[in-house]
Amino acid sequence: SNYHLPYGVAPNFVLNGETYCVPMVTEESSVVAAAAGAAKYWMTRGGFHAEVISTVKLGQIHFFFTGPSYELAAMIPDLKIWLLESSADITAGMRKRGGGIRDILLRDFSHELDDYFQLMVTFETCDSMGANFINSVLERFTSLLPAFVHERFDRKYQVETLMSILSNYTPDSLVRAWVECPIAELGSFKGGITADEFAERFYDAVRIAEIDVYRATTHNKGILNGIDSVVLATGNDFRAVEACAHTYASRSGKYQSLSHCSVEGDVFRFSLEVPLALGTVGGLTSLHPIAKTSFELLGNPSAETLMMIVAATGLAQNFAAIRSLVTTGIQHGHMRMHLTNILSRLGASEGEKLNAYTHFSDKVVSVSLVRNFLESQRSIPI
Ligand code: MEV
Repeated sequence: SNYHLPYGVAPNFVLNGETYCVPMVTEESSVVAAAAGAAKYWMTRGGFHAEVISTVKLGQIHFFFTGPSYELAAMIPDLKIWLLESSADITAGMRKRGGGIRDILLRDFSHELDDYFQLMVTFETCDSMGANFINSVLERFTSLLPAFVHERFDRKYQVETLMSILSNYTPDSLVRAWVECPIAELGSFKGGITADEFAERFYDAVRIAEIDVYRATTHNKGILNGIDSVVLATGNDFRAVEACAHTYASRSGKYQSLSHCSVEGDVFRFSLEVPLALGTVGGLTSLHPIAKTSFELLGNPSAETLMMIVAATGLAQNFAAIRSLVTTGIQHGHMRMHLTNILSRLGASEGEKLNAYTHFSDKVVSVSLVRNFLESQRSIPI
């Protein structure tokens, strides 16, 4: 069967001067509303900016070797040439598109696990996420490695390959997105909060997510609300993106916020740096009819452009969440959607819905309060 999730769009996303209507698949409707709200807010303040820093993908061959590591290391340049030649048939198409294998590095973990070494292979996979390509190359290498090592060392040492697979940690497939404007242009906020106060409160909220792991997790979840929904809408692998983002958030040894805020002079700047391994060709991207529609909606972007759109959506989502948290609180914006969901669940008519919106405009919403309100409008209890 199929399990359906809502498909929404967040319009008005100005990114590097282009306007996008961003497709978002998520069960949390407020996520789309928040992203759209943030996009509209930044539209008149220079929009979102983004740049792709790097696009390197990685794969690993895990193996055991009983000889000394320096002998293995000395063999690597020749092994590299041989592996590149022996995989030329698999890499031909990718090389034609400007991608392929970039490097093969030896990593020595024998001090942590007896005889354990690794070949770390770096790839450029152009507009594809590249999982199948990478795994096919790695498996070819894995099948060839023992023969090469045996021949080189005349069977003096033992070699055993254990497994090979791409790594979902791709810190060098990195994109940066940011927004910035003079503090005075931030405007004023609900509750009489001035632009200066907002900048300070916002900055502190982001600092807390850099300091405290409990807040960092929720903060990054907010970023991933935006990222995942576009990743899903475009048929990409959201589990890979999530796993990678969390590892990247821990790269200092402490799990921290993926976004950062600075207030320098009179300029407010809010930025996000996140590794994203995405594709716009191959995999589900061209098979899933709705993923195809998403790409059409985005103007059939390259993988690099998609990385920037996804990062900007994550940043927009994060901005919207923190803006709510440090001004009105998160429930304020959620209430109307919460109310709509409860009214639908209780089978309210259009007229009853309109009455309920007026009635609850300044009240707390709960299932029992909405039920009581509807019952007061009807003669038959719900
Ligand atoms: C809810 O899905 C996401 C937030 O909790 C994110 C945050 O707290 O920053 C609102």
